[in-house]
Amino acid sequence: MQNCRIAVVGATGAVGRVFLKILEERNFPFSDIRLLASKRSHGKKMVVKGQELTVEETTRESFRDIDIAFISASGAVSRLYAPIAVEAGALVIDDSSVFRMDPRVPLVVPEINADDLTHHRGIAAIPNCSTTQMVMALYPLHRVNPIKRIIVDTYQSVSGTGTAAIEELKLQAGNILQGADAKASVYPHQIAFNVLPHIDSFMDNGYTKEEWKMVEETRKIMHAPDIAISATCVRVPVYTSHSEAVHIELTDPMSPEEAREILSRFPGVKVVDDPSSNTYPMPWDAAGRDDVFVGRIRRDASNPRGLAMWIVSDNLRKGAALDAIQIAEEILKRDLLLTPSRRR
Ligand SMILES: NC(=O)c1ccc[n+]([C@@H]2O[C@H](COP(=O)([O-])OP(=O)(O)OC[C@H]3O[C@@H](n4cnc5c(N)ncnc54)[C@H](OP(=O)(O)O)[C@@H]3O)[C@@H](O)[C@H]2O)c1
Repeated sequence: MQNCRIAVVGATGAVGRVFLKILEERNFPFSDIRLLASKRSHGKKMVVKGQELTVEETTRESFRDIDIAFISASGAVSRLYAPIAVEAGALVIDDSSVFRMDPRVPLVVPEINADDLTHHRGIAAIPNCSTTQMVMALYPLHRVNPIKRIIVDTYQSVSGTGTAAIEELKLQAGNILQGADAKASVYPHQIAFNVLPHIDSFMDNGYTKEEWKMVEETRKIMHAPDIAISATCVRVPVYTSHSEAVHIELTDPMSPEEAREILSRFPGVKVVDDPSSNTYPMPWDAAGRDDVFVGRIRRDASNPRGLAMWIVSDNLRKGAALDAIQIAEEILKRDLLLTPSRRR
């Protein structure tokens, strides 16, 4: 793979810090790296591959002489800087939801639809973290026995909201254990020792935007516009890794044994499923690991063509930073960096 010059917008954030670690772990081939964040972090030092680097404030000039710009800050930052970066000649890999459903933007989980990258026009997007782990576990089954319907309930960690939410959970838990009150500022209610059936804002149809992302993004990534999907997204007081209880209806019946066999052969998926020894995926174990873990695979007792399962994955890794880096690796492998003809 060729060496390239990269910029990381949001390098100081929850995803950004994990991103820098994974760059090292995978020995991602870059010749130059620019760490970018908000004005607040300007001048801050961070170490990448043993080298101390200085974080800069993101400006319109930040993308000059950059081949790949990873943007992992917020929707507003992506909306502002992605077109500027593309104009400057950089391919953007974006973590926000801003461009995901744009038909010109590939929305990619490389194990599933890396080929979609060949049509990029300067921006590629990663999915929402709850979508990524679900499609990683469902796509291998869908390939051999098309899925008709998905019902999913999520148990999402606070790091999915970012650094401020991790700090809020720590602070609230400490205060409550000392008999003090918990003040909520990131979420509308206390998150410590609580569960919130509310992620992102509510829509007119009664679902939240987070739930609707799962519906639309799953269909786009799996190229399956007709799958019926209903999601309930819930925030739980866990630092890292999202968990999901998923019920699917397939075209034909499938045994749990066959599902385990198919899943255990899919790259990036690990079956952890032995109820007799209380073995199943849990967020504490998945944190810091790259795989998507699947367990509790069983027949859905309410549907002869149904299966039920439990899916857990580190939202900061496969749910964000790792997926973005895998996309960049595919871009380099397939020689798909931005060229003037692609921008048209
Ligand atoms: N967390 C997840 O599990 C997850 C999963 C998938 C996608 N995402 C997406 O990834 C992005 C980052 O999420 P996060 O959880 O890492 O959030 P975070 O911890 O709040 O970090 C936000 C980052 O954005 C930077 N930033 C804020 N305002 C900026 C500005 N005006 N210009 C440039 N940089 C700015 C911050 O810099 P300062 O340190 O200077 O404030 C920080 O580096 C979001 O778009 C999120 O939707 C997150």
